[in-house]
Amino acid sequence: MFVSGWRRLALGGVVALTAQVNAAPEDDLAALRSFYEKRFPDIALEAHIDGAYALDEGKREQWLEMEDFPPYEIAIDEGAELFEEALADGSSYSDCLGDDAPVVKQNYPYFDETTGQVMTLDLAINNCRVAAGDEAWDYLGPEMAALTAFIAYESRDEEVAVEIPDDPRALAAYEDGKAFYYTRRGQLNFACSHCHMTMVGNKLRAERLSATLGHTTHWPVYRLKWKETGPLHRRFMECNSQVRGVPLEPQSVSYRNLEYFLSYQSNGLVLNGPATRK
Ligand code: HEC
Repeated sequence: MFVSGWRRLALGGVVALTAQVNAAPEDDLAALRSFYEKRFPDIALEAHIDGAYALDEGKREQWLEMEDFPPYEIAIDEGAELFEEALADGSSYSDCLGDDAPVVKQNYPYFDETTGQVMTLDLAINNCRVAAGDEAWDYLGPEMAALTAFIAYESRDEEVAVEIPDDPRALAAYEDGKAFYYTRRGQLNFACSHCHMTMVGNKLRAERLSATLGHTTHWPVYRLKWKETGPLHRRFMECNSQVRGVPLEPQSVSYRNLEYFLSYQSNGLVLNGPATRK
């Protein structure tokens, strides 16, 4: 079992990490950047948008080869068709998502002052559908994966610029996401930060642990393990299960707050979805 050794290592990181508990978002962002800069002095911060492939030259080469014929291409093509299809009331996704659609991924997630909640792209798409008289899609299903893959592709190279508006509810959502990130859970009692900060760059079984910076820039992802393209929240579910914890529902308030916190940490990086991962 990897747990005992890991637990010892993980404990070492806790003191440093809890020091940031009451920091403002911009201080969190600066602290996280400086953490990875110190940990990987030879790796540019922007490189982390490629996840584990920024940290492992051998795996990066295999991955780049795969990118010659990227397996997410089918999802992009299907998504382009879905984007053109009229909704039940005759309106289009552009009518609902704005004139810039499909180049809108950079606008999400944002804090929606009307609902008092974090709005993600996936939730916005389902809201458009329901408002037009269509059924909501399954958040883990192929249609949502396809349409978000197309939108991500069209939004490539746009900059992540998540804002925390001057609204106490927005800061509360951010803080909730941050608490989720640093909270130990599951039978293994690991927080996200233990694997993706304390142990970053090390191997967990065959996998190289990626940095949190850049964790949200490249979704949806075609995973070889899934044999299909899937969303960020599916990865959250899997990382929760990995520590033998209970995964939450995709697009639950907690996962959206987590996405808000994580996306804010990637401010200034560019969008590079969809992507391929092992
Ligand atoms: C027990 C260790 C472990 C914990 C705890 C853990 N993860 Fe992971 N996570 C992994 C592994 C292994 C991978 C696959 C290799 C990689 O990309 O880091 C991964 C991958 C990811 C990815 C995809 C990275 C990419 O480049 O596509 C995201 C996002 C992620 N984790 C987020 C989280 C979040 C958020 C939490 C806390 C809820 C969390 N993880 C907790 C082990 C962990």
